[in-house]
Amino acid sequence: MTHPAPLDQNPTAPRRAASASVRADAAVTPRFAPVPAGRPRRRYAVLGTGHRAGMYVGAITGPHRDVAELVAWCDPNPARAGFYDAEVGAALGLDGPAGLPRYAPEDLERMIAEQAVDVVVVTTPDHRHAEHVARVQAAGADVVLEKPAATTADGCRAIAESVAATGRDLVMTFNYRYAPRNSALREVIASGAIGRPTSVHFEWLLDTVHGADYFRRWHRDRTCSGSLLVHKSSHHFDLVGWWLDDVPERVFASGGLRFYGDVNAAARGMGPRPARGTGAVGDPWALDLRSDRRLTGLYLEAEQHDGYLRDRDVFTEGISIEDNLSLVVDYRSGVSMTYALNAHCPWEGYGVAVNGTEGRVELTVVERGAVSVDAEGRVVLDPSANPDAVPVAASRPEGEHLVVQRHWEGAREVPIPRGEGGHGGGDALLLMDVFRRDLRLDEDPLGRAAGYRDGLRAAAVGIAAGQSLRTGRAVSIGALDLGSAL
Ligand SMILES: NC(=O)c1ccc[n+]([C@@H]2O[C@H](COP(=O)([O-])OP(=O)(O)OC[C@H]3O[C@@H](n4cnc5c(N)ncnc54)[C@H](O)[C@@H]3O)[C@@H](O)[C@H]2O)c1
Repeated sequence: MTHPAPLDQNPTAPRRAASASVRADAAVTPRFAPVPAGRPRRRYAVLGTGHRAGMYVGAITGPHRDVAELVAWCDPNPARAGFYDAEVGAALGLDGPAGLPRYAPEDLERMIAEQAVDVVVVTTPDHRHAEHVARVQAAGADVVLEKPAATTADGCRAIAESVAATGRDLVMTFNYRYAPRNSALREVIASGAIGRPTSVHFEWLLDTVHGADYFRRWHRDRTCSGSLLVHKSSHHFDLVGWWLDDVPERVFASGGLRFYGDVNAAARGMGPRPARGTGAVGDPWALDLRSDRRLTGLYLEAEQHDGYLRDRDVFTEGISIEDNLSLVVDYRSGVSMTYALNAHCPWEGYGVAVNGTEGRVELTVVERGAVSVDAEGRVVLDPSANPDAVPVAASRPEGEHLVVQRHWEGAREVPIPRGEGGHGGGDALLLMDVFRRDLRLDEDPLGRAAGYRDGLRAAAVGIAAGQSLRTGRAVSIGALDLGSAL
């Protein structure tokens, strides 16, 4: 089959040159059977037509249009649904918008019935996920769910109960598993090259563009995102559980809001600032919604309907999440992990090391070596598309390295297959599994497809960590009583 075009990513996330590649290594691309002649396409609706929905809309109207059909939108904001309706019209070669029916969130069940929806893609804000999963499944449709599964223990229980009661399918779209470098690490561990894992050290760095972005809108409110421990780190906790084939049991966390927010800004002597980024001049902390076509269409031109500001200043009051986090997590097998997340780094990437009884494996990734600014001091979201960007001297080289070293031997670099598109190549491969899993010719030896249990386990680490931050004590995940799922 043909490979999809480069995919939609958050505009503030690093865009590596490789993301524009249209080639992929056969080693990471699974084989799928052709679609049986005459088989009807599955009918998809999108619930939550914000930025992330774009990846699914592009897939359904692009490379997966032979197996999937988009039939309706559900979002309270008419401008955002309208933005995608116009995109779909263009993708389908129509003269104008696609004119798909639009529904308000309270009419979700009616949409599923009237439009004979088979699957709902849930890309709403995190704190809505549990309610939306339960409503979609009760109305008789399957779910494709963005991470995190839920932001609270109650939400986790609601999802487990919904799946048990309805028997409906829930695909968790943990795209990081599909990034070839992460898959390669799982292969190394599963091969026994380092023996039995004993401990993990994992550090994730978000830079002053991507990291700052979590402090501009609903993510900054822990009741909406569950904090970065749930919103962001659930990706990472899922990776660790999957790399080790293990289940988290106990979490201790320490951290705080030490950089963003009004109090920190005042303590560092920062003066008054504009309340929002659009229109700000010479300010590397500002996100100008006019700098990107999607940011303009999805947010700036939509705010009149609901007052949702996408570009709030990161040094304003009202932030209730942390920007520096340190955790110790114990796993069922006896492995322990030290984990750190920092959201205001000068570069972006991650490093993970797994120690084992026979050696050690290390994965080091630099996704963006430095943040570029233009001549006026504004951050350049995509330097490859902006020749006026001021090059940063002696930038850290971007790249990825997977190194195995067994006891009594030298270090050996493991080749990482080439990926394509967003999230290190993960998004395109994930979408193949989301839309044509039933056509796979071979079982996935890496077991990349994730279900609701994986989603709950990953969220549970973040939820337990949040409790630990508040109580100052280690929290047992069993005590969260998330139901039978764990
Ligand atoms: N896997 C990844 O790499 C990745 C990347 C980005 C976002 N995400 C996830 O995708 C989801 C959406 O993120 P986003 O950045 O697109 O957010 P967003 O704020 O841009 O979009 C959310 C949309 O949901 C709509 N909405 C709000 N309340 C609703 C309700 N009650 N019913 C229906 N729609 C409602 C909003 O109007 C908006 O259009 C989040 O859960 C986020 O964690 C995942």
